[in-house]
Amino acid sequence: MSIKKNKLRNRFKKPVSAAFEKINSSIEFDKFLFNEDIEASIAHASMLGSQRIISVSDSNKIISGLKKIKSEIKNNKFKFDNQLEDIHMNIEYRLSEIIGDVAGKLHTARSRNDQVITDLKLWMKKDNVLISKKIKKLKNSLVKSANKNIEILLPGLTHFQSAQPISAGHYFMAYYEMFSRDTTRFGDSLKRLDENPLGVGALAGTNFSINRNKTTKTLGFKKPTRNSLDTVSDRDFVIDFLSSASLLSMHLSRIAEEVALYSSDLINLFKIGDQLMSSSSIMPQKRNPDGAELIRAKASIAIGNLSSMLNLMKSLPLTYSKDLQEDKILVTSTSETLHICLDCMIEIIDTLEINKKSAEKIISKTYINATELADWLVIKLNYTFRDAHSLTGKIVNFAEKKKLFLKDITLRDYKSFDQNIDKSLYDFLSIKKSVNNKQSYGGTAISQIKKMIAIARKEIKNEKY
Ligand code: ARG
Repeated sequence: MSIKKNKLRNRFKKPVSAAFEKINSSIEFDKFLFNEDIEASIAHASMLGSQRIISVSDSNKIISGLKKIKSEIKNNKFKFDNQLEDIHMNIEYRLSEIIGDVAGKLHTARSRNDQVITDLKLWMKKDNVLISKKIKKLKNSLVKSANKNIEILLPGLTHFQSAQPISAGHYFMAYYEMFSRDTTRFGDSLKRLDENPLGVGALAGTNFSINRNKTTKTLGFKKPTRNSLDTVSDRDFVIDFLSSASLLSMHLSRIAEEVALYSSDLINLFKIGDQLMSSSSIMPQKRNPDGAELIRAKASIAIGNLSSMLNLMKSLPLTYSKDLQEDKILVTSTSETLHICLDCMIEIIDTLEINKKSAEKIISKTYINATELADWLVIKLNYTFRDAHSLTGKIVNFAEKKKLFLKDITLRDYKSFDQNIDKSLYDFLSIKKSVNNKQSYGGTAISQIKKMIAIARKEIKNEKY
């Protein structure tokens, strides 16, 4: 005999209203937890059996019923019902249809409050690993691009103005660093996720002699949580995830923005593969970087979800309140978005080509080597840097007026600024020299970048996933 659908409502005189059913039901956004719900229920039922809280034969009946439900859901043969509120009640109800009254024993010594966090944590642990794997793939693509393009020189920018020349390898490795920090952040979140909430009950613990260490082991958690009140009301792990995800999305949006800008025909520095471009419904010449633009845009979803979750938790009294049900909408929304963005960014980087000619042309029309001139005055003529900066400013002004660039100024004209300037300056002004002279640790000299690439490759190889 199956339990009645409204079994939990015996104290009420009226059935739920349509409006209340709609706001209260979460099945549409928590059914994704079915696998974890069944996994946790099996661990719970088996522990109840081995602790003799229920008989081993009842425990076995429950477990085989749960396994049947799992295959029904996987094969799309399961009917989800709004009236049953959430994934937990949907599964419990179906279990009662399959194995009868024994199903009613599954909820001994647990509450949906510990059940839902157990499910969510189990799911998030897996998702955390999937995301970390994708970050690793992206880092791999960046290192490959850095290596491939190491000899191409790009205008390095500050304030989006040409500043100093850099190697394209250095550029890609900058993003490698950002995403490496994301790896560590997700790794840290995973450690904090690794505590088993199952067994804290509704809020106070339980009268039954359960074994939390056993379910902890079965479910692959590191240890059980320590305070039942904190456990049922804690969603720090959700905020942790949404925050790591926001940072990662922000990084993705930065590189996406640059890809979109640099592949514009106005700049023409980057070209991404046709498979990642859209055209226009009216302008046949268009190559629009929609993928990059959408990655740029989707960061706002992750950031918004983080803000929503912080707002949801703010001022919430201990312990469980239904507010907490909304967390799953935010987690899945951010996770889905993140997976799409990572997949697309990996393809963008894998197909990205740099237009070397264009880079050279852009650089040649700037005063990007002005700092070299100032440094030369310091090194060769013993200027203080401030005096060198000031004289270089004057020389740049002069060049601008004469429509010249620094390498085109004659030695005679240079000497009019300082008699001691000699022709060794020209070599120092070369863009390639400028890059390769940046030998300081972490600088853009090719030899430095090669070292960093070697370190990165080792780091990637040693990553856990
Ligand atoms: N669907 C609920 C949620 O996601 C499960 C917990 C229900 N607990 C309760 N006390 N009503 O939060």
